[in-house]
Amino acid sequence: MKYLSNPFRPGAGHPPPYLAGREEEKKEFARLLGQKPVLTNLVLTGLRGVGKTVLLETLKPLAIPKKWVWAGTDLSESAAVSEDSIAIRILADLSPLTANTMVLESETRRIGFTSAAEKQRAFLDFDFLKWVYDKTPGLASDKLKAVLETVWTSLSANNPDINGVVLAYDEAQNLSDQADRRQYPLSLLLDVFQSIQKKGLPFLLVLTGLPTLFPKLVEARTFSERMFHVMTLSRLSEKECRDAILKPIAQHGCPVHFTETAVSEIVRCSGGYPYFIQFLCREMFDSYLQQHIGGEINPVVTVEQTIKKLDSDFFAGRWNRVTDRQRALLSIVAQLPRCDEEFAVQEVVEQSKKSRKPFSASHVSQMFAKLADSGLVYKNRHGRYSFAVPLLGGFIRRQEAGGAQEHAA
Ligand SMILES: Nc1ncnc2c1ncn2[C@@H]1O[C@H](COP(=O)(O)OP(=O)(O)OP(=O)(O)O)[C@@H](O)[C@H]1O
Ligand SMILES: [Mg+2]
Repeated sequence: MKYLSNPFRPGAGHPPPYLAGREEEKKEFARLLGQKPVLTNLVLTGLRGVGKTVLLETLKPLAIPKKWVWAGTDLSESAAVSEDSIAIRILADLSPLTANTMVLESETRRIGFTSAAEKQRAFLDFDFLKWVYDKTPGLASDKLKAVLETVWTSLSANNPDINGVVLAYDEAQNLSDQADRRQYPLSLLLDVFQSIQKKGLPFLLVLTGLPTLFPKLVEARTFSERMFHVMTLSRLSEKECRDAILKPIAQHGCPVHFTETAVSEIVRCSGGYPYFIQFLCREMFDSYLQQHIGGEINPVVTVEQTIKKLDSDFFAGRWNRVTDRQRALLSIVAQLPRCDEEFAVQEVVEQSKKSRKPFSASHVSQMFAKLADSGLVYKNRHGRYSFAVPLLGGFIRRQEAGGAQEHAA
């Protein structure tokens, strides 16, 4: 067999062999890059595995030819806990891109960098940015603003054709203000960007994260409503799913082919969610090759077998972490016709009356709050809930059906 390597890439942030769809999102981002001054920033949000990280990675090569500098990373929990840690994170992300840029002499004088020795090393490297940060009097937000102003003044003077700087942060739902510790890293970020953008500095903020992200921003600062355009990534259309399945195989001139039935089943079972498409395709491809290597002349792989693997590899770990009572509640949710869209506490209460142990409204609310902490559901802006993991409803129903069958056997 000519080509044996499997092109599909299920994983977190692994670039797919072919990025299907997302054309509108790319256009919208290009429009945001055309802003002078920057009035609107970007929130890129959606469920687990819908393709936020890989889309963010594809926006970067769109920004660079349009003469935008791109900085940013994942916001781990530790970078997101205090005002200083988020500020230092930003300096660390900017400095590799600016380290060869000389600081303007007028700037060194303005900020009090006077001695000859100090002047010599006045490049926008991390030490210099940190020095400006530490030396600026006032709150962390004043310090960060001073650094960003210094960066832009020198960067634009040295590179007159640069249009601006994109600061892009993935997993930004990790940011939160912590009143008990008197640390407000999220508010700091919003205040600083609002203030420098008001002054006309072209820094564009791109935040990516789970659906809890935008409500969090609005809760911290109501002006976030006006400061961000929210792009919600959703499932791929049927045509886009087919592209995601078929193009990688066509591109690689691969001898393994999916039958038309397999393609429609993958589209149906994946629900259009990119991670599931990559998973099902990769598993089916591998299983076909294994049978072939094992001497099978006509290997047969069904989507149904592969779904079992998806259940044990992807869903089971999450399901095993919930308590029996939470499972009972989630099973009731899974019976609601629109469970994969959204559901309200009252609907769940009504549905639970059909079961042996009904739930009260306050009990359901309390349990949803716990399940939200563990990342299984989230509350949307209208006070309704959704599963934070795509297609969880189908998995729960399959579990129930499997359990009932075992019972009967
Ligand atoms: N448009 C697409 N076409 C084909 N495959 C895609 C597409 N978008 C994402 N994928 C694939 O789906 C998987 C999940 O993508 P990614 O990690 O970007 O999702 P995510 O939304 O960032 O997930 P998480 O919420 O867990 O961070 C990856 O294997 C990726 O290759
Ligand atoms: Mg991601």
